[in-house]
Amino acid sequence: MIKAITGVKDALPSDISKWRMIEETVRNYFNLFNYKEIRTPIFEETALFKRGIGEETDIVGKEMYTFLDRSKTSLTLKPEMTASVVRAFIEHSLGSIQPLNKLFYISPMFRQEKPQAGRYRQFHQFGAEALGCSSPFLDAEMIQIAYDILTNFGLKNLTVKINSIGVPESREAYKTKLKEYLADKTEQLSEESQKRFETNILRILDSKDERDQKLLEGAPIILDYLDEKSKDDFELVKQALALTGLPYEIDPKLVRGLDYYTNTTFEIVSNSVGSQSALCGGGRYDLLIGLLGGKPTPGVGFAAGIERIILACENEGCFNLPEDSIDFYIVRLDKELTGKAYEYAAQLRRSNYVVELDYSEKSVKAQMREANKCNCKYALFVGGEEFKEGKAGLKNMQNGEQQLVSLENLVSEIKTLSEK
Ligand code: HAM
Repeated sequence: MIKAITGVKDALPSDISKWRMIEETVRNYFNLFNYKEIRTPIFEETALFKRGIGEETDIVGKEMYTFLDRSKTSLTLKPEMTASVVRAFIEHSLGSIQPLNKLFYISPMFRQEKPQAGRYRQFHQFGAEALGCSSPFLDAEMIQIAYDILTNFGLKNLTVKINSIGVPESREAYKTKLKEYLADKTEQLSEESQKRFETNILRILDSKDERDQKLLEGAPIILDYLDEKSKDDFELVKQALALTGLPYEIDPKLVRGLDYYTNTTFEIVSNSVGSQSALCGGGRYDLLIGLLGGKPTPGVGFAAGIERIILACENEGCFNLPEDSIDFYIVRLDKELTGKAYEYAAQLRRSNYVVELDYSEKSVKAQMREANKCNCKYALFVGGEEFKEGKAGLKNMQNGEQQLVSLENLVSEIKTLSEK
């Protein structure tokens, strides 16, 4: 038997109400903040992600699903959206249509990571990118949207972490200091961090290895190396967050795993989901659009992992979703009346009622069992003496009350009843 690929998950009908609730909430919130939806293709030219995310990152180095198509073009299933959104922004000159483009998305992403709870090879993100404004208020707005969405789900065990990694010049100065600090400790670093010491030293800061963390205890702090403008901007981000009472912690080790960030970085972590605790992450990327060939334009954004949010919501008991239900189950009393039942179902459905009926010649008793299983509000009985008189029995399944309705004016009679 052919099974799904390791690290990917089906969303079965029993899960779908959770997905829909999340997607609806996300859309409502992005609407409140006036973000417009963007959809980009599932795959892009590999060069986009290499250049955008950075050759030395884990995503580009180890995790991308890259393949040659029949014309030998190297393509990659998108591992994240920022590079794709920026590509679309440049390609369609969105910046010349309006100065600030506030965009959001909900989309599958692909990364060949080692699967575990909260970490999958196909996963889904919702996120936003605002292109065209460098105000720190916009950084705060991003954090606010993410935080409001997560708290709206009822999640409680959240920590908002923020940091600023400055601009490349000040970061280089910091990297040199960090290198000096770690130079005589490299042998004590984890294997992964030893590699990063050479290739991407900042990433040592967010190593989960306890030895690395211990060694970093006396390390220089990136916030001490920011240039004046970056310092002021970071102050403004904090002030803006304070204006709405959004609780945050400063984490000077938060450097994030993608190379495009400048200044603000942030994550919201949950302690309800085990080791894959980041529910969302983001930051500012003022150089990315220029790097990908566009007119230099500032940008800021975030993305959140839907599977991890579902996990957190399940673990915190946040899902309080209404049971599935339908409006009508049509119980046909005689087999010959299947066609009639079909016709009434169509009339009701055209008037937006949710209707179910049986086509497999089930007995009346079996149909009633189905009606209960469907959790219907009304059962409509088609057949018997009433039918000969142009009527059908209608049973309110909640209170058991029964009455007759005229089949000729079925929909209007039912509408009148439901308005009572
Ligand atoms: P990221 O931190 O790589 O950032 O991913 C954002 C979120 O996606 C994570 O916090 C996590 O919840 C979820 N996620 C990532 N990888 C997996 C996985 N393998 N399985 C399940 N969930 C996962 C970005 O992707 C940036 N594009 C965010 C951004 C937008 N920065 C600026 N704009």
